[in-house]
Amino acid sequence: MSEEKQTTEGQPSEKRKSKKLPIIAAVVVVIAVAGIGFWSWHETPGFCAAFCHNMDQYLEGYEQEQGVAGVDKYGNEVSNTNAMMATMHRNTKATAMPEIRCMGCHHAIIGEQISEGIGWVTGNYLDPLDERVGEHLTSWWNEPANNFCANANCHVYLLGDDGVLSYDKLEASTKSREFNPHERHHENLALECTSCHKGHRASTIVCTGCHQHENVQLPDGWVTYAESQALMKEAFAA
Ligand code: HEC
Ligand code: HEC
Ligand code: HEC
Repeated sequence: MSEEKQTTEGQPSEKRKSKKLPIIAAVVVVIAVAGIGFWSWHETPGFCAAFCHNMDQYLEGYEQEQGVAGVDKYGNEVSNTNAMMATMHRNTKATAMPEIRCMGCHHAIIGEQISEGIGWVTGNYLDPLDERVGEHLTSWWNEPANNFCANANCHVYLLGDDGVLSYDKLEASTKSREFNPHERHHENLALECTSCHKGHRASTIVCTGCHQHENVQLPDGWVTYAESQALMKEAFAA
């Protein structure tokens, strides 16, 4: 008895539903298409700078020709753009990937995007931005800082069996150099990739901060620790 009642009552509302259905479907399609379009745009290097002018320098730096003189994110001259990891990795025959975009290194996390969005709307943001290091960049995806460079997708050959960067492998990878920057001569010296390898400014060999090893050779475009510190001081002087 009660079952019958339900079916008769259900009928009119089902009719109403079927009239609404095409409209709902159309709306869903429009949202989906817009969403996909937005998402693919979001994945392109131009996206960040389209909204946030404090990203302009990052995009410009990234798009510079590789292996020539250029500028860093603060407008300082860099004698070889390959000393900036973002520019150097944009496309390189040395990696398995033909192209690495902003989002190849930086992960978009909803919480961070929302706070960036709020900053954009309220005009409450830093310019220049605070400089990030490995641990900031990987904290969002719960990876150790050094897995920023060595992970399942990039520099895999440096990972140990535990899936984490192996310092032995890193040290061995450059052992043919006269001065091996990855050598752990000083056990207490934490070798964080971003201490030396900089994304958007000239990389530096931090070892030069204490003592100039006679055989330290700065790769093209790289700067000494003292020069590196001076650049940062100047950028944040105001
Ligand atoms: C090869 C990896 C890589 C790529 C590609 C890359 N970045 Fe970065 N990014 C870094 C690293 C490393 C840092 C840490 C700061 C530094 O070393 O300059 C960083 C830091 C940042 C920061 C934080 C502010 C700061 O100065 O620390 C912003 C913003 C940023 N990148 C934007 C971009 C944009 C926009 C693109 C694409 C146009 C991009 N990045 C491409 C590696 C990369
Ligand atoms: C003390 C400074 C320093 C630190 C810290 C450092 N590197 Fe390097 N790395 C260098 C220098 C210098 C080179 C040589 C770059 C060049 O010749 O252009 C290099 C080269 C490399 C190369 C290219 C190697 C090759 O075959 O030529 C890779 C890959 C690399 N580093 C990964 C890492 C990773 C991953 C970390 C973090 C775990 C790291 N490095 C930490 C200084 C450093
Ligand atoms: C905290 C200061 C300090 C830093 C930073 C530093 N060193 Fe040294 N290093 C020294 C001192 C002091 C000596 C000489 C005494 C000794 O042999 O322990 C030395 C000696 C060495 C030696 C052996 C002597 C030689 O020149 O052949 C090597 C190799 C070395 N350092 C590598 C490195 C590397 C690689 C880095 C960067 C990852 C680095 N050092 C960063 C202080 C430092």
